[in-house]
Amino acid sequence: MFQAKVKCGVTALALLLAVAFSLAELMPPQRAIASSDEQEASAQATEQTMEQHYKNIQALKGLPASQMRPMMNYISAALGMSCADCHVRTNGQFEFDKDDNNHKKIARRMIQMTMDLNKQFFNGRPQVSCYTCHQGHEHPASVPPLPRVTPKEEARPSGAPPKPEEILAKYTQAVGGKEAVEKIKTRVIKGQSVAANGQGFPLEINFAAPGQYTLNVALPQSASTQKFNGSAGWIKNAREDRAMDGVDLMRARSLALSLAPLQINDPKVRLGFGGYEKIGDREAVALRGALPDKRRVRYLFDKETGLLLRRVVTTETPIGIDPEQTDYEDYREVDGVKVPHTIRTSYLDNAYSSTRKFTEIKHNAHVDEAQFKLPEAK
Ligand code: HEC
Ligand code: HEC
Repeated sequence: MFQAKVKCGVTALALLLAVAFSLAELMPPQRAIASSDEQEASAQATEQTMEQHYKNIQALKGLPASQMRPMMNYISAALGMSCADCHVRTNGQFEFDKDDNNHKKIARRMIQMTMDLNKQFFNGRPQVSCYTCHQGHEHPASVPPLPRVTPKEEARPSGAPPKPEEILAKYTQAVGGKEAVEKIKTRVIKGQSVAANGQGFPLEINFAAPGQYTLNVALPQSASTQKFNGSAGWIKNAREDRAMDGVDLMRARSLALSLAPLQINDPKVRLGFGGYEKIGDREAVALRGALPDKRRVRYLFDKETGLLLRRVVTTETPIGIDPEQTDYEDYREVDGVKVPHTIRTSYLDNAYSSTRKFTEIKHNAHVDEAQFKLPEAK
């Protein structure tokens, strides 16, 4: 079950004490965001509401309890505030339900205002969010800065937009072509997992086609392990030993894409052209679509090389949109296929963000299939 106390405690600990291990590999139990429609329906039927699960809910009544964490992370990021700016502590322990902080009281009214605006003017879609006004600041700016900045005219690409299948075909070609990719049956990868605080730990990934992997990070106290078999997964670390939930699976798929690049051709995800965008100094072309669990996905490909630069998955909440971003960098050729050697994952909750760097990749070495077997769900 979703354990707010424990998780929030852990987040707080990470923020306050800069805990000396990669929280990124200790994925949080964000429950009841299921991976298929069927699971979703049953999760919704059984899931608690905010007021059933938490002690002092006034503005967020009726919403699923699993949205608390994304929403609180969202609010913190949108205002450039931390949990402690709105929530009081006694002897270092957060008491999230207490209202003895004026910022919390203002924030509650702001939540109400934001939801009312969306209900009244935008058909309930979260068009107005905390970020719309606050833009990462406690106090929104209401005076435009002088001297006026004239926006640069971006040259609009002329001609018809590329077809999704053309973009995907170029991508397939860019990573080495279907034949070369399909020759790779296993991958044994060694590298480093670097947490947002800069600390790195040895990382090992064993991959077997079509889409299974195990990932091991040697944390000082104990190992952090993930198993993913292409559709389901398992997480084991010092705190947890459980099946992957929807959020974990989404993150696992982002990693799997760099190991099994042709999985992007998922027949369950219909992709459409999503415009052009700049990523650093690269021009990117976007494909966008909806995942089977209804979250939105956006893929950005390098316009010139065709390689995948970024995958963004967004979760909608009534006060704003919670993004999760994976950046694929430092593509290098190994045995005729291009592999990103740096994979950067970013979340609003920075304690979970991490960068995985590959230093050694061996193809078609022996990988014991037994390691992909998932434990029985409890
Ligand atoms: C800008 C202020 C603000 C920030 C920052 C903020 N919160 Fe909250 N939080 C609130 C408000 C307001 C509520 C009550 C919502 C309601 O009344 O429905 C709340 C409620 C909660 C609750 C439910 C408590 C209960 O039992 O009733 C938890 C848990 C929580 N916040 C955790 C966090 C965490 C963890 C962070 C940091 C990641 C955080 N909050 C950051 C304003 C904030
Ligand atoms: C339509 C614009 C708008 C939206 C949307 C909005 N705010 Fe605000 N917010 C304001 C303005 C204006 C103030 C007052 C600014 C000041 O005190 O300087 C404010 C003040 C606040 C403050 C008090 C800051 C302080 O230190 O006094 C908090 C906390 C806050 N907002 C939280 C939120 C949260 C959380 C959301 C999203 C659920 C949100 N706001 C959405 C405009 C907005």
